[in-house]
Formats: sequence, structure tokens, C-alpha cells
Amino acid sequence: MFDKIITISVNPALDVTLWTETMDFSEPNKTTREEIYAAGKSINVSRVLASLQTPSVSLGICGDDNSRLFTSLLQKDGVHYDFLTIPGCIRENLTLIIPDGRVLKINRAGFPVPADAMKQLKIRIEKEMDGCGNVLLVFAGSLPPNITPEAYKSYILSFRRKGVALALDTAVFKMQDIEELQPFIIKPNLVEFRQMCGSDLRTEQSIIKLCRTLSSYVDHVLVSLGSKGLIYVTKDCGYRLSTLSVSVKSTIGAGDTTLAGFIHSLQQGNSPQEAITYAVAAGSASVMLDGTDIVTPKQVEEQIPNVAVKSIR
Ligand SMILES: Nc1ncnc2c1ncn2[C@@H]1O[C@H](COP(=O)(O)OP(=O)(O)OP(=O)(O)O)[C@@H](O)[C@H]1O
Ligand SMILES: [Mg+2]
Repeated sequence: MFDKIITISVNPALDVTLWTETMDFSEPNKTTREEIYAAGKSINVSRVLASLQTPSVSLGICGDDNSRLFTSLLQKDGVHYDFLTIPGCIRENLTLIIPDGRVLKINRAGFPVPADAMKQLKIRIEKEMDGCGNVLLVFAGSLPPNITPEAYKSYILSFRRKGVALALDTAVFKMQDIEELQPFIIKPNLVEFRQMCGSDLRTEQSIIKLCRTLSSYVDHVLVSLGSKGLIYVTKDCGYRLSTLSVSVKSTIGAGDTTLAGFIHSLQQGNSPQEAITYAVAAGSASVMLDGTDIVTPKQVEEQIPNVAVKSIR
């Protein structure tokens, strides 16, 4: 399907996950376990694709203060990368897993990225695309604090105008932006979809209706609904997918895993229905793992029989 998949990270992160046995507000709490992952949504997509043996390249911008740790984590996960390193420090997102199993997540803002670095990144992306036929660019995750949604849209549009396919999983765009960008895939969760549409979408019917509107300019509309599964709509078909309940360890990165699972399955030549089933199985397998641990092909395949698919057209 695609000759090359490139994931773009303009605000990558290190996900620091800490487990404690106490939650004491007067004394220091000791950690019982600590994990650190290379993160940011596009990075997670590349990490999952690597585990599923679908090649991708992860490009982006990172701060040089802690870039060695970051790239060593990418290497450990088998991710091919080429990051532009500029002065600054890659943000640390903190995940605290407290004794009752609840999770507190704090995402830092990241550091401002100069316009010149964005231009240099563009040159690297174009070089990576050079000579390739069909390219999928995955733009996922948050923006550095100084980059506006408008500037980001123009940046992405400059690639779209060259006929490149886009997968978008970012909370920054509204409906009219999506209409301009005409992406191949969007994968908002319900909160992001509500923000995108500027509507509170109380019923599934209202979500499906908006997905249908979007499907006139987005090839694959995936709206993930957390434990309730997913709504999938194209201009030709629509499915409501759900799974058996599983024992949940961490939902962080479940959506990124869903997106990567979908891309992987399409890349294998599977039909949209097979690809979306695989995507939901991947999301389900992902929540059964700690932190942002990455699913294996076997873990995803084990979940496929538990996915229920109902046509909504
Ligand atoms: N609590 C849960 N129980 C079972 N499956 C879940 C649960 N939460 C998420 N999933 C699975 O993962 C998929 C994606 O989840 P969700 O809608 O939470 O994505 P998200 O908010 O985009 O996640 P993130 O951005 O952290 O990667 C769901 O469609 C579902 O298949
Ligand atoms: Mg998400």
C-alpha cells in the first residue's frame, strides 16, 4: 500500500512511569518500580509498527540535553529514526501509578522550536520521501508551545499538496482544517472528536452522523471510545466495534496502538474491515500492558477473536 511510512514528532517526550505503594502527602513516597519510555504519539506509532514488523522512519526535533537517552530508547524498541537535535531538553511526561491502581498523568509543555528548525525538519522529510512512490506521513501528538495550529496546518498542507497521504492523531485541528487537509486517516478519541467538531455529541448516532460528514473528505475515520471500543466510517462502509472486557493495566498509548495496528494491517493488504478489527484487537492488547509497553504480534492476534464487529450502514 505505502512505499514508506514516516512518523513526525515535533514535541517528543520521555514518559517517566513511577509506581508507589504509598500516597502520603506529608512524607516522601518511595517508588517501588520505575520505567522510562521514548514517547509522544508519533513515536508510539513507530514503536508499535516496529514491534509488528512494519517498517517506518521516525523523524522529528529533539533537545540535545537528554537526546542520548531518548535515542537509546528508540534503538531498544527497534525504531529507525533521524532526529534534528537543537538546544533544549526533551520534556518528561510523568505517570504516577498510585496504590489503588489509579493513574495520574502529567504532560509537560515541551520547549519552543525555532522556525528555522521546522524548516530543516521539512528538508529532512522531503529527503526521506525523495524517490519513494506512495508515502504516508503520520502527524500525531501535541505541538511545541510556540507553534500555532494555523502554522502547523500550513506546514502539513505543504506536504499534502504534493499528494502525500496523511494520518492525523492530534487534538489541534477543527472540522474545517480537516476538510482542507483531506487526510487518509484520522483517529481522535471521543474528547478530541468533540473538540474538533465543537459539539458535545451525546449519542452514538450523532457521532456516526459526523463521521459520515467527515468521510466525504477523510478516507478512514476512526473515533476511539476507550473501553467502549471504536466507531469506524468510510464513504463506503461503517462499523461499530467492541471487545470483551479485559483486565486493564494502563490505557496510555492505547489510541496510538490502535492507529499503528490499523496502518500495519492495511499495509499487509488487508481489507478495511480486517484492518479495523486488527486495530481494535491491538488497542485491547495494549491496555493489558504496563505503562506504554508495546504489544507483540502474538498479543494482538490473541485478542482478534474477542472483537465484535457490527455494520452501521
Ligand atoms: N479501559 C479499556 N478497556 C478495554 N479497551 C480499552 C480501554 N481503553 C482503551 N481501550 C482500547 O483502546 C482503544 C483506544 O483507546 P482510547 O479511546 O482511550 O484512545 P486514546 O484516548 O486516543 O489513547 P492515547 O491517546 O493515550 O493513545 C479503544 O478503542 C479500545 O479498543
Ligand atoms: Mg489518542
